[in-house]
Amino acid sequence: MTTSTQAYGEPWYWDNRYSNEPGPFDWYQKYLTLAPIINLYVPRHHPTLVVGCGNSAFSEGMVDDGYSDVVNVDISSVVIEAMQKKYKDRPKLKYMKMDVRDMSAFESEYFGAVIDKGTLDSILCGNNSRQNAAKMLEEVWRVLKDKGVYVLVTAPLSIINLHSDLRRVKSVFAAIDSL
Ligand SMILES: C[S@@+](CC[C@H](N)C(=O)[O-])C[C@H]1O[C@@H](n2cnc3c(N)ncnc32)[C@H](O)[C@@H]1O
Repeated sequence: MTTSTQAYGEPWYWDNRYSNEPGPFDWYQKYLTLAPIINLYVPRHHPTLVVGCGNSAFSEGMVDDGYSDVVNVDISSVVIEAMQKKYKDRPKLKYMKMDVRDMSAFESEYFGAVIDKGTLDSILCGNNSRQNAAKMLEEVWRVLKDKGVYVLVTAPLSIINLHSDLRRVKSVFAAIDSL
């Protein structure tokens, strides 16, 4: 699909994309490649939040690997409905439509880890990217427990631009994609 990358910051783009491409599709890396890092940094006994999950099989991989509570959010109602249907018999996998800039449905300091594979990158492509990224990171910080971990799988340019904002998050592990 050819598109301006600016559209990656817009919810309508993702609804269209997931309507036309039901997937599954994993951006950057699949679970098996990242499992050694995830196992090192993400506790199995605390709930994990996957932000901007899309139709990735990453969270399924986590549950298959022993993680017991993986909560997934995405701004696209199309993809959330599809994933709820797909995983209706997997109670350890939960899917909720939510904007990562406002995760007030979750109490503060609830999650042991937040995993972000390509979602901050998408927000950085859109309008008001700086403010939207700051709102997202505030919310990530709020829902993480003390000593919780934010695992960011990103493309190099995003992380360079965001260096100062990322310093505010409690703990960051950034896996830089080589593309
Ligand atoms: C590049 S895709 C990554 C999908 C998935 N994490 C993966 O690794 O394959 C970015 C995802 O972020 C979601 N997204 C974009 N803006 C969002 C927002 N404000 N709140 C929640 N999800 C958002 C999109 O719907 C899309 O599913």
